[in-house]
Amino acid sequence: MEASVGRSEDVLETGTRADGPDTESRVTVRVNGASHTVEIDHRTTLLELLRENVGLTGSKKGCDHGQCGACTVLLEGRRVNSCLLLAVAQEGYEIVTVEGLIEAAGADGDLHPLQRAFLDREAFQCGDCAPGQLCSAVGMLAEAKSGQPSVVTETDLPTDAPVRLTTEEIRERLSGNPCHCGAYSSIVNAVQDVIA
Ligand code: FES
Repeated sequence: MEASVGRSEDVLETGTRADGPDTESRVTVRVNGASHTVEIDHRTTLLELLRENVGLTGSKKGCDHGQCGACTVLLEGRRVNSCLLLAVAQEGYEIVTVEGLIEAAGADGDLHPLQRAFLDREAFQCGDCAPGQLCSAVGMLAEAKSGQPSVVTETDLPTDAPVRLTTEEIRERLSGNPCHCGAYSSIVNAVQDVIA
């Protein structure tokens, strides 16, 4: 990350400008396998960077407070609410958005198996939560595979053993991504199709 500075006469010995601290920096982020270098205000969230600087509008701004999950993306393979993260702190990390799930599938721009399952099961209505649901579900599958328990996981399972994704597990693990259309049953069915 490279902090932008004002004219040299404005720079104090402490590294701050005469009219206050620097408020913008140039950062390079990796999104869906491509690098993007942008000049951004330090207050820019990762969600805003993705939508407004990189032009990937699949991730949605719902609550902007970490409550709705519509902005969920994968950061180093882990699902995060991008509205809660400052973009300047994400330099060097691999970020995958719902648009990047297609590339992750590998073959000829095919949809990710979860994207295909969501379509087959009609696991959405208005679609506003679907990008977040999909990224969250991808992260959730990896968490369960690595043995990370949820609050409903049986406690007598061996450590690091993959967690069996029962309906209860799936519902609990995706509870951070509410669907206002109530497509929950179809979402669970879609996830179960992929793990079957
Ligand atoms: Fe990020 Fe709602 S927009 S959680």
